[in-house]
Amino acid sequence: MTVLVFLDPAFPDGRVADSGTPAILATDQGVTRGDGIFESLLAVNGTPRKVQAHLDRMARSARSLDLDIPDAGTWLRAISTAAATFASASPQGPDEHGNTNIVIKLIATRGPEGANATTAWVQASAVPPLLAEQREKGLDVLLLDRGYDSTISHRAPWLLLGAKTLSYAVNMAALRHAHSHGADDVIFTSGDGHVLEGPTSSVLLAQLADRGGAPVKRLITPNLDSGILPGTTQGALFAAAKEAGWELGYGPVEPQDLFRADAVWLISSIRLLAPVNTIDGQAVGTADVRSRLTAELSALLAQTH
Ligand SMILES: Cc1ncc(COP(=O)(O)O)c(C=O)c1O
Repeated sequence: MTVLVFLDPAFPDGRVADSGTPAILATDQGVTRGDGIFESLLAVNGTPRKVQAHLDRMARSARSLDLDIPDAGTWLRAISTAAATFASASPQGPDEHGNTNIVIKLIATRGPEGANATTAWVQASAVPPLLAEQREKGLDVLLLDRGYDSTISHRAPWLLLGAKTLSYAVNMAALRHAHSHGADDVIFTSGDGHVLEGPTSSVLLAQLADRGGAPVKRLITPNLDSGILPGTTQGALFAAAKEAGWELGYGPVEPQDLFRADAVWLISSIRLLAPVNTIDGQAVGTADVRSRLTAELSALLAQTH
C-alpha cells in the first residue's frame, strides 16, 4: 500500500489522499514532461534519516529548475503525517536489527500547464524486499556509457545533471538493459572514461594498503562535480568513516580503479550499502574482504542520522 499526503495550504500537516483515486491533473507538467524533482529517504522507527541533507538537496534541485517548492517546515509536517498514517495502516515487521523501515518520497512538479502552481506531495510505502537481498548477496553490475563527458555539467547546466529530477526514464532504461543482459545494476561511465554513478546510487570503492607496517583504509568516490548527484548516503558514510580512521578520497575514478579495488559498493538511502560482486563479468576483490568491509561500513552507516 502507499500513503499520499499532499502539501496543501488549507491543511497545515498535509492532506491525506487515497492513493487508489486519481489525484493529479493529466496536464500536470510532472506527468507530461517529467518536469519536477524528488527525494527518496528512509524513515527508521518513524524518524526520517538524514532529513536535512535531503531537504537541502531538494532545495538545490528546485533552484536548478527555477521551481518554487514549499518550505522545509511544511515538508517535515507532511513527512510526519505520511509516516504515522502508513505505520498505523500497514504496520511493518522489524528488520534484522529490530527496526521498522518505511520509504518516504518527496515529490514536487511544475503543476498543471498554464496554472503556475507547484504540485507537491509525500508518499510513504514499504521497502521492497529485493533491496535487503541485494545487500546480502551483492550485485553483478555492467559499465554503461552515459554518453556525456565528465565536464558537461559546467558547460550545459540545462542538462540538470546534478539535480534529482523526475526525468528518470533514462536511468530506468539503463537498468532494464542490465537486467536483459543478466546483470542487476549499472555503473555509468562518462564519454572521457570516468566512473560516474549508478542509475539510482552513488559508487564507492575501498583500497586497503600497508604503510610502513600500519594498515591504511581508503574510501573513494567519484568527483562530485562530474555531473553526478551528490549522494546523501555517501556524504553521511564519509563523515562516519573519517571519524573511524578511514582516509577519504574523491575521484577522478577510472574503470581500472574499480577492478583493482578491494571492494566496490553501490550506495543509496533506501538500499544502503550493496556490495558489487562482479563488473562486466569480472570479479571485484575477494568475497572475504568484501563481506568484512561491508559489515564494517554498514555498522558505521547505521549510526548516522
Ligand atoms: C542518480 C543517483 N545518484 C546517487 C543516488 C544516491 O543518493 P542518496 O544517497 O542521497 O540516496 C541516487 C539516489 O536515488 C541517485 O538516483
